[in-house]
Amino acid sequence: MTQTDQHTLLRGRILDFHASPQDEADTDAYSYIEDGAILIADGKIIATGTFAKVSALAPTAPITDHRPHLLMPGFIDTHVHFPQVQVIASWGAQLLDWLNNYTFPEETRFESPTHSALMARHFFDLLTSHGTTTAVSYCSVHTTSVDAYFTEAARRNMCMIGGKVMMDRNAPGALMDTPQSSYDDTKAMIGKWHGAGRAHYTITPRFAITSTPEQMEMAGALVAEYPDCFVQTHLSENHDEIAYTAELYPEAPDYLGVYEHYGLLSPKMLLGHSIHLKPREIDVLVDTGAKPVFCPTSNLFLGSGLFDDAGLRARGIENAIATDIGAGTSYSMLQTLNEGYKVLQLQNQKMHPLRAFHWITRGNAEILGLADRIGTLAPGSDADIVVLDSRATHAMDLRMQRADSLSEELFILQMLGDDRAVEETYVAGQAMKEGNLRSEILLQSA
Ligand code: GUN
Ligand code: ZN
Repeated sequence: MTQTDQHTLLRGRILDFHASPQDEADTDAYSYIEDGAILIADGKIIATGTFAKVSALAPTAPITDHRPHLLMPGFIDTHVHFPQVQVIASWGAQLLDWLNNYTFPEETRFESPTHSALMARHFFDLLTSHGTTTAVSYCSVHTTSVDAYFTEAARRNMCMIGGKVMMDRNAPGALMDTPQSSYDDTKAMIGKWHGAGRAHYTITPRFAITSTPEQMEMAGALVAEYPDCFVQTHLSENHDEIAYTAELYPEAPDYLGVYEHYGLLSPKMLLGHSIHLKPREIDVLVDTGAKPVFCPTSNLFLGSGLFDDAGLRARGIENAIATDIGAGTSYSMLQTLNEGYKVLQLQNQKMHPLRAFHWITRGNAEILGLADRIGTLAPGSDADIVVLDSRATHAMDLRMQRADSLSEELFILQMLGDDRAVEETYVAGQAMKEGNLRSEILLQSA
């Protein structure tokens, strides 16, 4: 190999996935290297393997030595609301009241480009400080929020997916578009951002309650026109929501039938929550390849219900996993796994830690159809990498003294870890933890 000046080498313990492991004995599904290295050039992974082998490929490359920490692909969050950074931890309501009392008033502020730009900086700092390198986001109804989101993503060279919510009823006037304006604005945003650098656009009718049939038709037209864009919405999160949807769409056989009727369903469709599904809806998921998204911290916080991961997987349906900030209560995909584990426990279902870490990396990347770019440490992938410290806190350190296996270590990270366990996050080969906005503000006020 010819070596250029841009080569850098990360050294540490390395965990990477090739499939979803059943348990630690399923060694075809993952690679674990005690003294490993990742060679990076121009934002991409050139080689991953033992330090001895990989360092020989670039003997003069500068080395960042992360030993004894664990290097793995950056985390992927498949459902998050960018305009809800100041909604997280709002007390006392279930879905529809929570939207009306807290969320909608807050989202009106994103009409302002300065507010949107400032919140985008905070949002992206929070993602990377929690080890998340790719997220699929709902922006507000305003194109200003979409511009702020993708401008910030481009500044940081992050692979981000996002879109403006389409909503033309059952919301404050300042948050409503029209069928035509939502179509025009979405089209303009796709033209501006989809495929620009690492950005992808997701067509985003918020949910059936906030879209008229005319707007759903426009959403369907956009999906037909832009088949390579993602599509996202919410499905069967809460019983009152389901009942209201049935009133608004009386001809639909069930909730999913609304989205099905307007041609929204395909493997590019992400359906947040998907908790209270009827047998016909599960058949439709199987037939269309549309993907449920498990949002454990949010589902517990809003008292929405228990996601049936094993039941859906038994039908061959692949589920994504996500934070759903701001109904979700942590930006951390580790904490998302923690709460997810408990949701499955309540249903006598199991989440092995190796499967859990596959889920938030390669698993979510596969759901997005992006596993050739993100979610693994395979050569040719973008160098989005998280460095984890399993002894980051007093409690973790004490528990680690009794850990004998990789699975045990991963479970400790999953149950006790959060941003304190994220030693560093690399986005396209660049270290991101330094210089975030909060540290700048703290410095200025010191
Ligand atoms: N359904 C429609 N909008 C939202 C939202 O912002 N958060 C959640 N959790 N559910 C929704
Ligand atoms: Zn949501």
